[in-house]
Amino acid sequence: MSAPPESDVLLIENVPVTNSSPVGGVVSIWTINRPDKLNALNAEVNSALKAACGWAESDDTVRVIIITGAAPNEPPEGKRPKPNAFAAGADISEFVGKSSADVRPIFDENPWESVWNLTKPTIGMVDGFALGGGAELALSCDLRLATPRSKFGTPEINLGLIPGGGGTQRLCRLVGYGRAMEMVMGGEMIDGEEAHRIGLINHLVEADELLEQTMTLAQNFASKSPHTIRVAKAAVRAALEQPFSAGILAERDLFCALFDTADMEIGVNAFLNRENAEWTGA
Ligand code: COA
Repeated sequence: MSAPPESDVLLIENVPVTNSSPVGGVVSIWTINRPDKLNALNAEVNSALKAACGWAESDDTVRVIIITGAAPNEPPEGKRPKPNAFAAGADISEFVGKSSADVRPIFDENPWESVWNLTKPTIGMVDGFALGGGAELALSCDLRLATPRSKFGTPEINLGLIPGGGGTQRLCRLVGYGRAMEMVMGGEMIDGEEAHRIGLINHLVEADELLEQTMTLAQNFASKSPHTIRVAKAAVRAALEQPFSAGILAERDLFCALFDTADMEIGVNAFLNRENAEWTGA
């Protein structure tokens, strides 16, 4: 495995995949580490996320990526503890005095798109505030797990803004037009239970089980052929990006092409011989 990029604001831990095939696979856990600022996404976090995405995409040992936020630090004597957060948004202090010409390049090269464009499975592991750009980061992942005490929202409207990291589009596709409109225009937060009810998150999990359940999902994805997993992601993604009839054809092309892969032969033979498949990744 190549060395992951180092950053104080984005900690990367690589956990070996159980019974990895090909050997050496890891689940890469990325922790946004600015708990005193509720893990708000400043320029440093954004560039660390982009660098991590470049690394993860180019390193074959990275099989699944989990993105999460650092837990709060112990508060100083007499101070109230900071709340838990995945990320409470883009760092608002960096908006001061900016014009459209200033922000355009930042948003043209943004971390939400880098995460979205990863061809490997991505999981948002949320415990606490996931607001604005933080909600958008969770939405840029393929799926999300969250605790009941989590709070999701797009409060940009209260700043005279709208989501700018793909939030309007991804939210609408995930939870539907009416619910997306209510969240984007109202700026109110919803808790983990409501997020689960409307399909914003896949699983509602108690805080003390969040890591274990997220890892169980990640290890399951990581146990499949990395090539087939990429193709599966591309096929489902086509449903978002193409008209229905084109998506059906895209799926058929991808499906047929898999019949020329080593891993399809390995998977079918392993099933027929009642053996575990040892994937090559090709
Ligand atoms: N950008 C920059 N700093 C942020 C931030 C953000 N999006 N969200 C929280 N912080 C900082 C606060 O300024 C505060 O810093 P300080 O202790 O140095 O003063 C620290 O994080 C703790 O936040 P605080 O507001 O004191 O916590 P709280 O428990 O009273 O409230 C929230 C929590 C999430 C309700 C509140 O922080 C909030 O509304 N944040 C902004 C959410 C937002 O609008 N996000 C969209 C941005 S596009």
